[in-house]
Amino acid sequence: MTHQARNILVTSALPYANGPIHIGHLVEYIQTDIWVRFQNMRGNRCIYVCADDAHGTPIMLRARQEGLEPEALIDAVWQQHRADFADFSVRFDNYHSTHSDENRFFSNTIYARNKAKGHIVRRTITQAYDPLEGIFLPDRFIKGTCPKCGTADQYGDNCESCGASYSPSELIDPVSAVSGATPEQRESEHYFFRLADFEQMLKRWTRGGHLQREVSNKLDEWFEAGLQEWDISRDAPYFGFEIPDHPGKFFYVWMDAPIGYMASFKNLCDNSDDLEFDDYWKPGSQAELYHFIGKDIIYFHALFWPAMLHGADYRTPTAIFSHGFLTVDGQKMSKSRGTFIKARSYLDHLNPEYLRYYFAAKLGSGVEDIDLNLDDFVARVNSDLVGKVVNIASRCAGFIHKRFDNRLSAELAETALFDEFVATGETVAELFEQREFSRAVREIMTLADRANQYIDEKKPWVIAKTEGAERELHLVCSMGLNLFRLLIGYLRPILPATSERAEAFLQVEPLTWQALAQPLLDHGIARFEPLMTRVEQAQVDAMVEDSKESLESSDSGAAPTGPLAADPIGDTIDYAGFAAVDLRVARIVAAAQVEGADKLLQLTLDLGGETRNVFAGIKSAYAPDQLEGRLTVMVANLAPRKMRFGLSEGMVLAAGPGGKELFLLSPDSGALPGMRIK
Ligand code: 2FM
Ligand code: ZN
Repeated sequence: MTHQARNILVTSALPYANGPIHIGHLVEYIQTDIWVRFQNMRGNRCIYVCADDAHGTPIMLRARQEGLEPEALIDAVWQQHRADFADFSVRFDNYHSTHSDENRFFSNTIYARNKAKGHIVRRTITQAYDPLEGIFLPDRFIKGTCPKCGTADQYGDNCESCGASYSPSELIDPVSAVSGATPEQRESEHYFFRLADFEQMLKRWTRGGHLQREVSNKLDEWFEAGLQEWDISRDAPYFGFEIPDHPGKFFYVWMDAPIGYMASFKNLCDNSDDLEFDDYWKPGSQAELYHFIGKDIIYFHALFWPAMLHGADYRTPTAIFSHGFLTVDGQKMSKSRGTFIKARSYLDHLNPEYLRYYFAAKLGSGVEDIDLNLDDFVARVNSDLVGKVVNIASRCAGFIHKRFDNRLSAELAETALFDEFVATGETVAELFEQREFSRAVREIMTLADRANQYIDEKKPWVIAKTEGAERELHLVCSMGLNLFRLLIGYLRPILPATSERAEAFLQVEPLTWQALAQPLLDHGIARFEPLMTRVEQAQVDAMVEDSKESLESSDSGAAPTGPLAADPIGDTIDYAGFAAVDLRVARIVAAAQVEGADKLLQLTLDLGGETRNVFAGIKSAYAPDQLEGRLTVMVANLAPRKMRFGLSEGMVLAAGPGGKELFLLSPDSGALPGMRIK
């Protein structure tokens, strides 16, 4: 098998730099990483770049909320994202940021070239403005009463209660979700990208085999609806790139985000000897360019992005690969059910290879949603990986070790069976190529069954006790290990860490498809160590339990909340910042269980005359009667928060990582309820 090595550049969507990676994100990164690893195993040169999507209003506001400069926030998140990806073996050739010199350069270039050709125009528009914060408000930061059904507290442009959609200006009694102020309507000049200029080019492109069939159909609907001008600017204050020659105007985050793909690749080129940016991005380039994305961002990638590139004299993508969303146990991920699972929470409990395998076993080339069924997850990992694949090696390795000095036989027992495995390997490769991972996994598992059947028939444990059958034992066990090698080789794009351990056991170089076609004969191997352990239901339960969110960061609609799991001590704040937090000594006069809450206790706090009701996420560490009567410290001026269980009027302070290790603060004796802490 010889073929021309292909040059391929692959991206995954850039995650926003304001929150942690969760298992919903991981579907895409794992899918992409598997495909990239597969391409490299086939002898192609496949480069995988990504970056954090660091700009925009939510990130600016999030930084404000944390008391950080946006740069400090995005740096901290960048570190976390990199660690999460690395620990899931998602191996980027480069992981950059859209807040980078390269991205500023390409954003300016793409803007200037499109502008010079008349594809960018300016126009004055009216928008909601928060007079207290001094910012224009994106839709999702406006809330009010639904104009259709009258439900209060609805965000942006659709009602969670009746499902109506409307324009945020139709909301009754609208307020800014940032400050609570009533928004004003203000005029401002904006820059628009004339998407309709590209209609012909886009029709050709979207019908030219660059998209999945169901996606092309969606695009036809959009063409029919008509291509609208796209607002690519935002007013200061904004965290992003200022538009050259237009002080106070910034590129909208979605304008510079996909350009981040180029920026990350450029940054990689600048740090390597044999990669040329132009070889991949100039028009007519022979290199292939693929973007893996979620189905929610097709409009940006299949319309705006190729148009912007074309208008700026760059090549357009070879294909866009869209996937569906992740559900857990058939439902949307939920913080209260504990199924909104962060990458880090998963890693605290489970081997990342399990999830890579499970996703692969579910993923196809289409845009259907995929479901992580937690019971099925346990069953499947145990029966397929531990029960079938790893088992083959453990059934044969002991004899090779004890009886043959860790050396495989010089001949192959069953050439035909080996050849059958190699031939199926080509089918598997074709399925990987087409992103039909679930079908590839099925093929591989059928082979695993075949290999186990071979061993069952030969019964090496019986041969081992038979006088004069030494040679046969050697042949059978060597054959078994050769079949194992093929299986683990085919699984290598999915299970990189397990395969690496298998390679160490087999004492071979990193496996490639080409190497796999030759059997391993008269070859010394290492002592067998278990390659993977069973997944236990208790581990999954503990992960779900840990993911159930407590009071401090419960679902809160569209406003940017949620824990930044960064532990390093942040930037300094000034005294005024500290003094703004009203910390008080409080006496816990009553503590009670909360019906239906897994983490919360309801506390009645005495603040020296005033009584407060607070829901605190400390149930894992305290029983109510351990708390009653004791003094603690509370944030007394935290805005009251409506929770499922009632109104929470403040927060008590505790230290520690969580679970049983949670320590409520208390003042020294003599302190009295209501005393201010300074
Ligand atoms: O939807 C998102 O999470 C975006 N941050 C994806 C950006 S992909 C690319 F365009 F940068
Ligand atoms: Zn409604």
